[in-house]
Amino acid sequence: MGLMDGKVAIVTGAGRGIGRQEALLLAREGAKVVVNDLGGSTGGDGADTTPAQQVVDEITLAGGEAVANYANVATFDGGRDLVAQAVSTFGGLDILVNNAGILRDRMSFSMSEEEWDAVIAVHLKGHFCPTRFAVEHWRNRFKETDVPVNAKIVNTSSEAGLYGNAGQLNYAAAKAGIAAMTLVEAREMGRYGVRANAIAPVARTRLLGTVGMGESGSDEMEEPLDRLAPQNVAACVAWLCSDLSDPITGQVFKIAGGLVQVLGGWRAWRTVRSAENWTIETIDKAKGTLFNDRSTGVPPFYTEM
Ligand SMILES: NC(=O)c1ccc[n+]([C@@H]2O[C@H](COP(=O)([O-])OP(=O)(O)OC[C@H]3O[C@@H](n4cnc5c(N)ncnc54)[C@H](O)[C@@H]3O)[C@@H](O)[C@H]2O)c1
Repeated sequence: MGLMDGKVAIVTGAGRGIGRQEALLLAREGAKVVVNDLGGSTGGDGADTTPAQQVVDEITLAGGEAVANYANVATFDGGRDLVAQAVSTFGGLDILVNNAGILRDRMSFSMSEEEWDAVIAVHLKGHFCPTRFAVEHWRNRFKETDVPVNAKIVNTSSEAGLYGNAGQLNYAAAKAGIAAMTLVEAREMGRYGVRANAIAPVARTRLLGTVGMGESGSDEMEEPLDRLAPQNVAACVAWLCSDLSDPITGQVFKIAGGLVQVLGGWRAWRTVRSAENWTIETIDKAKGTLFNDRSTGVPPFYTEM
């Protein structure tokens, strides 16, 4: 018996890297998997059906069930077709892992419009499009049966978007947006029985290779702990896709090798109130209260800039 027996899962960008390991593990746990991958370069150029098909072949060879999808998830039609394919091939949908991604790093002052648009499209719209049709499917199912659908969404954010990273204005904006989308999805879809969480992974893939941290070579993992193995990320994602992690929703997890952190979102660090309308002078006077104490978690940028 697998943890995901009878479930139907979509993993986007599942032809390589983290997505590939996620698809393989979900299939190993009994899920029927739609392996989506456009097969482009790290920058999003080109297309190739081979990566998605190879993962499907691996799953089938191991006795699992999978089907390939080559849609560009950054298009509305692509998202619609992807969800429709899961439903028509396997009879439903229970799990959506939004993972597809590209990089076009550049300092803000040199970034082109095309570099901005491409990265925002693949990540932000590429999370929106499949989700849009998955949640519609789940809402309809709920309305038909009046039973919570017990479905899961796992989105892929990044520390770049949560903490900021020089050279990744486009990518960080998209990844911060993905964390925000996760909160909205959790709030909107909870009543229908859908949980939504996000991850901020670190793993040895070709994407990490572009920033000099090594490409994935083989599936072998260093023992006892491989700090950059994408399999570590896949294990946590599979857990989030399973009922074992109920009722966790609206959370963002950093996952890197043997480390898992629940990351906190925006919160009020300090509060000042005025009984009268603010002026430049009165807000300046309040500065001391907002930022005076380094020992109790003052926003770090104030002291470092
Ligand atoms: N590797 C890391 O350390 C790391 C860190 C932070 C976040 N991430 C995120 O994890 C996700 C997976 O990255 P990875 O490192 O495995 O990269 P990867 O390049 O190995 O895999 C990404 C896959 O997405 C596919 N893809 C790209 N655009 C697509 C589109 N429009 N439609 C369908 N498929 C598309 C690619 O063809 C590729 O196979 C990305 O969202 C990335 O931003 C990775």
